[in-house]
This record gives sequence, structure tokens and C-alpha cells, in this order.
Amino acid sequence: MPKLTVEGKGDFEVPANKRLVLALEDEAGVDQLHACGGNARCTTCRVEFISGEPDKMTVAEKSVLADRGLTGVRLSCQILCDHDMAVRAISRLAGSGRPDAGKRPADEIQPQPVTWTEKT
Ligand code: FES
Repeated sequence: MPKLTVEGKGDFEVPANKRLVLALEDEAGVDQLHACGGNARCTTCRVEFISGEPDKMTVAEKSVLADRGLTGVRLSCQILCDHDMAVRAISRLAGSGRPDAGKRPADEIQPQPVTWTEKT
């Protein structure tokens, strides 16, 4: 099983190919925001990678990051835990002023069909 390290939280074994946004919530116990429910629209599921940043990216993630001019972050709803990785959870319910973290994302990456591309 891949290892997920969350700065300030610890190391967690995660089921292979689980969505990172769900692993942050379920395994790491992070109050991770995911306002759009994991659909690559809101960017509140953003994380910073310390190590193990995936080279591949969904077209949906690349598009929304570009539209918002965001660099240095990745969308945890668009990433699968298929190898060891270490992240900073920088977008959390605590202190956000939001009433909740958002609808629980589906088990599979959304929106479907998923198209992959390179990060750069
Ligand atoms: S972009 Fe909204 S939860 Fe990932």
C-alpha cells in the first residue's frame, strides 16, 4: 500500500489508487476542503507537495489551475495514491469560515471520462 505523509499529521498507509482527497480525510484525518465535491471546479482541495508529486495530471486539473493562475499546488481530488507521497494540507475547514468541507467526493475521479496529460 502506498504511504501518504501529511506534514504535521504523520504517515498513513493508503489503499492503492484511492483518491488523495479521500485519503486525506479517511486515513490522515485531515479536515480537507472539497467544496465542489471532487469535480475539479473549486480548487479548495489544493495541496502542496513535499515529495512524490505525480508527473501526470488530469486535463481537468490542468485546465482549472491554469484558469485560476495557480502554481505550486495540486488538486487532491484529481490525484490517485499510486505511490508514496508527502504533502502539506493547506486548505482546511478550520479557519476557512465555511460551514462544512463540501459534499463527499465519489470514489472515482470526476468528472468522467478522465483524460490524463503531463504536468508541465
Ligand atoms: S476542485 Fe473542488 S474538490 Fe477538487
